Amino acid sequence: MADDDSRAGARYTTPQILEYTNRVHAAHDAALAQAFAVPEGIPRIQLGPSEGRLVHLLLRMIGAKHVVEVGTLVGYSAIHMARALAPGGHLWTIEYEPRHAEVARANLAAAGLADRVTVLVGAGVDVLPTLVDKGPFDAVFIDADKESYAAYGRWAIANLRRGGLVLGDNAYLFGELLDDSKRAVSMRSFHELVAASCDSVCTQTPDGLVVGIVR
Ligand SMILES: C[S@@+](CC[C@H](N)C(=O)[O-])C[C@H]1O[C@@H](n2cnc3c(N)ncnc32)[C@H](O)[C@@H]1O
Repeated sequence: MADDDSRAGARYTTPQILEYTNRVHAAHDAALAQAFAVPEGIPRIQLGPSEGRLVHLLLRMIGAKHVVEVGTLVGYSAIHMARALAPGGHLWTIEYEPRHAEVARANLAAAGLADRVTVLVGAGVDVLPTLVDKGPFDAVFIDADKESYAAYGRWAIANLRRGGLVLGDNAYLFGELLDDSKRAVSMRSFHELVAASCDSVCTQTPDGLVVGIVR
């Protein structure tokens, strides 16, 4: 059921409800807790526990084996995704900041996932072309610099298998999606590209998550 307020964007979530539902459905084990608590000097901008769990479940639903992430931070979403991979699967995750990548590698090793995940250091637009021969991919998760979402989306559509999953976080662009800025134009291009090539939706997570299945 929905009502006019919720259809217009109102939410019934409170911090207490969120804490309860995260605890019941998306509780952290030691490895996720470690990757959720970033060291001094690194921003705490991971997915929330429910979004991490959602990405995990979506990958499991499609039997994902070969997955790419743009925007590793310290490996929180990478742990969720690597744990969802079918046997023999692999995740390539791209991170611009060497310090973030270093912490991510340590967190992934502590989670026992070092052999299932490769952390690549560099800008997404430079690193993605080097991964083409590992594809076609089952899923691409985009969670990095917003100016490049249009380019990331184009790469994802070109390198996903039919039925593959494209995911893009911060799809509301912190409330600035309809602005005239370069990053808003890029984010809208991403939305429109995904809608044109996938069966898609923008789910109403805190900052919007685009989910598309390539036609
Ligand atoms: C929102 S965080 C990623 C969070 C992570 N996906 C998670 O949920 O655990 C965005 C990351 O993208 C990285 N980043 C920024 N610009 C980038 C670029 N051009 N290429 C790759 N990574 C970039 C940032 O350094 C930051 O670590």
